[in-house]
Amino acid sequence: MANVIIVGAQWGDEGKGKVVDLYTEFADVVVRFGGGANAGHTLVVGDQKLITHLIPSGVLRGRGKRCVLAGGMVIDPKTLLEEIAELKSRGLLQDDKDLVISTAAHVILPEHREVDRLRELGKNAIGTTKRGIGPAYEAKMARRGVRMIDLIHPERLKELLLRSREELAQYIAERGGTFTPLEQELEESLAYGQKIKRYFTDTSSYVHQEMTRGRHVLFEGAQGALLDIDHGTYPFVTSSSTIAAGACTSCGIGPTSIDAVIGIAKAYTTRVGGGPFPTELGGENATVSDAALGEQLRKVGHEYGSTTGRPRRCGWLDVAALRLAARWNGMSGIALTKLDVLSKMKRVKICVGYKVNGREMSELPCDINEIEGAQPIYEELEGWDADTTSARDFESLPTAAQRYVRRIEALVGVDIGLISVGPARAETIMIKNPFR
Ligand code: GDP
Ligand code: IMO
Ligand code: MG
Repeated sequence: MANVIIVGAQWGDEGKGKVVDLYTEFADVVVRFGGGANAGHTLVVGDQKLITHLIPSGVLRGRGKRCVLAGGMVIDPKTLLEEIAELKSRGLLQDDKDLVISTAAHVILPEHREVDRLRELGKNAIGTTKRGIGPAYEAKMARRGVRMIDLIHPERLKELLLRSREELAQYIAERGGTFTPLEQELEESLAYGQKIKRYFTDTSSYVHQEMTRGRHVLFEGAQGALLDIDHGTYPFVTSSSTIAAGACTSCGIGPTSIDAVIGIAKAYTTRVGGGPFPTELGGENATVSDAALGEQLRKVGHEYGSTTGRPRRCGWLDVAALRLAARWNGMSGIALTKLDVLSKMKRVKICVGYKVNGREMSELPCDINEIEGAQPIYEELEGWDADTTSARDFESLPTAAQRYVRRIEALVGVDIGLISVGPARAETIMIKNPFR
């Protein structure tokens, strides 16, 4: 039996979709555990490209792979139904039994999206995806949120929608925002509930039963460790727990059920949205040559947001940040993605630590007061010219690329069990499979 958690080890968009899709071959159940439609996970199979926002990447593997949306998620029912319709139109998700949605997951209401939008107009904008994620988690924590189960209880739902209005009306009105009229919102929400209820389950009990039957469960993280609400670069983070422990809380399963935690990391770093990013090659103070390198990464790596289309900020690999991700997640292995994007760089740099107020630190200082003055300490390695996309085993990589990978392993102290050299399934070097 193997139950494996996959998490993003950086600021999101590490290639979780591709890696989860690959590992799903060996899993029976795939559970998405955090966030909502702020995520965008890209799956490439043959000439088909699919971006999922809510439904786990297991969906590409066809019938019999159960896709679970766990209780810790925040779900926009309209987006969910659109995603289900799109998947069905592509011949996927044909059996309703393959989709399992927690009755305890929270609902993103139109006013959550509106508050998110209005906040992003102000001076405290953090570059959110404007999907209403923050306001929905706020409502949950304030114990006034709407849960999926409420969508099929009209009286209760009306009460909750009224409560939501009471809390948010002034904020929205003062900023010239709009509310969907109550009767319309109630009617639409109830209609969504009728369509979604066939998938409703107590997902904690469901996943536990599947584990007891010896079925393999893969937990698909969203976002990345540095966007974690408790540990990330606060306040420039998302509103949920993005690390491995979040899978347990969200799903209601104990940590002792987990056999492996794989952190997905790009061979360089990207970030979309605001917030500190010390190894960024670009931004206001970048030199011309650094900005050009950042642009090269963006261009070659197609670094544009899967959810919002925003250009992603690009920079060198930050091992001092990866060490944090390894610690927070208890990472047992790393899947290193997009190594192909670094081809044709004359030299490559790895950030191995920081200088903060004259002090050397081996981990990224996440505290906003420290991180802003933190100076990356770089180690420089020789680059490689050759294309790596056709490599299928480690030895076929250019020697300099092999050295780069080995150096990352040594610096983080975690083995690299998979190297991705292109977006397609086949463009992968599988070294150690966590399900075997
Ligand atoms: P996720 O949010 O972590 O699932 O990542 P995204 O899908 O938002 O972004 C990753 C992007 O990189 C997608 O466009 C993938 O198709 C692509 N990708 C994944 N692995 C590789 C790789 O090894 N090489 C290249 N060139 N692209 C990759
Ligand atoms: P995947 O799963 C990259 C970022 C946003 C913003 C911050 C808060 O595809 O890796 P939010 O809308 O969550 O309140 O925005 O978090 N963010 C992501 N960045 N990948 C993601 O998901 C992200 N989800 C949220 O850009 O900086
Ligand atoms: Mg993404």
